[in-house]
Amino acid sequence: MELLSNWCSNGSLPESYVLPPEARPGNLIVPLGKSIPVIDLQGKDRKETIRQILKAGKEFGFFQIINHGVSKDLMDETMKVAEEFHAMSGLDKERECLKDPNGSCKLYTSSYTYPREEFHLWRDALTHPCRPLDQHIQFWPENPTTYREVIGEYSVELWKLSCRILELICEGLGLSINYFSNELSEAPKIMINHYPPCPEPSLTLGLRKHRDPNIITILHQGQINGLQVFKDGLWIAVEPVPHAFVVNIGYLLQIISNGKLNGAEHRVVTNSRDARTTVSFFVYPSDECLIRPAKALVNASNPAIYKPFKFADFFIASNVKPDKEALKELIYKSTA
Ligand code: OGA
Ligand code: NI
Repeated sequence: MELLSNWCSNGSLPESYVLPPEARPGNLIVPLGKSIPVIDLQGKDRKETIRQILKAGKEFGFFQIINHGVSKDLMDETMKVAEEFHAMSGLDKERECLKDPNGSCKLYTSSYTYPREEFHLWRDALTHPCRPLDQHIQFWPENPTTYREVIGEYSVELWKLSCRILELICEGLGLSINYFSNELSEAPKIMINHYPPCPEPSLTLGLRKHRDPNIITILHQGQINGLQVFKDGLWIAVEPVPHAFVVNIGYLLQIISNGKLNGAEHRVVTNSRDARTTVSFFVYPSDECLIRPAKALVNASNPAIYKPFKFADFFIASNVKPDKEALKELIYKSTA
C-alpha cells in the first residue's frame, strides 16, 4: 500500500477514506469550557499532585503535564526530526525502515490492518521499540542523520518520565511503588504519526475512536489541534499547551486498576491547512505478560471486573472486527 504522504496533495479525498456518517467528526458537539486538566509535576505538595493525577485519570483518562523535566530543546529537536522523517520521499522512508531482518521498525499508512479495513485513515506512521536502547537503535532510521541521536536521547528521557508518572499512580492507587517495574513495562515503543493536510476534514479521521492497548501513553502533540477525548458522550479537544505532554491511561491500566482509572477513548481529526506530526511514547508489557486486576485492589466489596489474560491475546483480539466482541469475551468476567 502506498504511503498517504506520496499522493495526498493531489487535492481530493478518495472514496475509501469517506467514513460512514455516524463515524465522521463534527456530528457531536465539543463542549466549551471543559478541558483536560493541566498538572504541574513540580508542584511542592506531592500528595496534591498525586490527587490531581488520580482524579484526572478517573474522570478523563487524560491529563497534560508541565514542568515535567524534559528539556524544551529536546522536545523541539524531536519534533523537528519527526517532521523531517515524514518529509522524506516514500522510497527513502521505506529504505530506512528495513534495517531489522525481524521487521521491528514498522512504516505503514492508516492502521496495521490496512488490507482488511473498511475505511482508511488519514495518517502515516513509523513505530519501533526503544528499550533497551542498545538492542534496538541499530535498526532505527539513519536518516535524517540526527534521528538516532535525538530519538535515542528522547527515549531515555521519556522512559524516566514514564517511570515517574507510574510511581505517582501506584502511590495514588495504593500499589507498591515498583508495581510496573517488570514485564508490565518491558516493551515501550516510539510512534511517530503524521497527518497531512486533508482536503475534506469533515468526512474522514486521522485516527478513529480507540483506547490505547497499553499501560500509559505520553504524547508530544506539538502546536496543531487534532486530538479529541470522548467523555460523557461528547468530544473534548485537547488544546496544545506549549511544551506540555499529554498523558493518557491505557486500556491495560484500566484493567489493572480494576476500573479505578479510565482508559479513555480518543480520536484524531484532520484539518485542511496544517500538517500535524506527533510523537507517542507507549508503555507496553512483554507479549507473555499476564494482565489482571491488581490483587491489592480486589476484595469482597470490590470484586474483579476483569479476567486474567495474556497481553499478546489481548493485542490480537483488539484488532479483530466486528465490534470488538473478541476483546470483550477475553477481558470481562461477565458480559453484563
Ligand atoms: C495514538 C494516538 C494521538 C495523536 O497514536 O494512539 O492516539 O494526536 N495519537 O497523534
Ligand atoms: Ni491513541
